[in-house]
Amino acid sequence: MELTEILARRRMVRAYRPDPVPHDAIERIVSTVRRAPSAGFSQGQRLLVVTEQPTRDAIGDILGDRQWVGEAPVLVVVGVREDDYHERYTKPDKLVEGREIEWPVPYWHFDAGAAAMLILLAAIDEGYAAGLFGVFAEAMEPFKELLHIPSDVAVTCCITIGKAADDSSWDALTSRLTQARRPVDDLVHWERWD
Ligand SMILES: Cc1cc2nc3c(=O)[nH]c(=O)nc-3n(C[C@H](O)[C@H](O)[C@H](O)COP(=O)(O)O)c2cc1C
Repeated sequence: MELTEILARRRMVRAYRPDPVPHDAIERIVSTVRRAPSAGFSQGQRLLVVTEQPTRDAIGDILGDRQWVGEAPVLVVVGVREDDYHERYTKPDKLVEGREIEWPVPYWHFDAGAAAMLILLAAIDEGYAAGLFGVFAEAMEPFKELLHIPSDVAVTCCITIGKAADDSSWDALTSRLTQARRPVDDLVHWERWD
């Protein structure tokens, strides 16, 4: 599929048919993480793929009212290990005046977002729909405990993948329809800010 077509199709889908996604398709989708950029090639991104129904049900219970999450046949937890960045940036070629750089923004969170984007686009390329949700602070501890996610890996978001079902009732309530899409001139500046 052409990138322009993938981008035209990309939206967060919040209803899924139960049909399982073949393992090799899941593998191709999640393997795109190896193509994700990362600061200093730290490769701190970590994915956890969940397909088993009881685990998905348990995740649905932890998250509460977001029913569509448990419906999706595939869930990908996008995590990142911040320590990979500190370890990388304390190697000789990355030290600045003998010290680890002062991070302008947390590059590990940036890199997790870049990996998430690849997964969303790769899922569409394979003919599936995808959605993304955040795990709220109060749910984080039971969520990580359920999935045995180690303490040095931060959960940045989760991605649902599967064949789209009708989510029109959901969609009407979502931010994409309640918020106006900003004009490109609000988002893109040229040469100087003003
Ligand atoms: C970091 C992040 C967290 C999000 N969390 C949720 C969420 O918890 N639940 C949800 O339904 N959508 C969530 N979304 C999806 C956004 O609502 C959606 O991307 C936005 O409304 C634009 O719609 P579109 O992606 O379909 O174009 C999240 C998106 C991002 C990037």
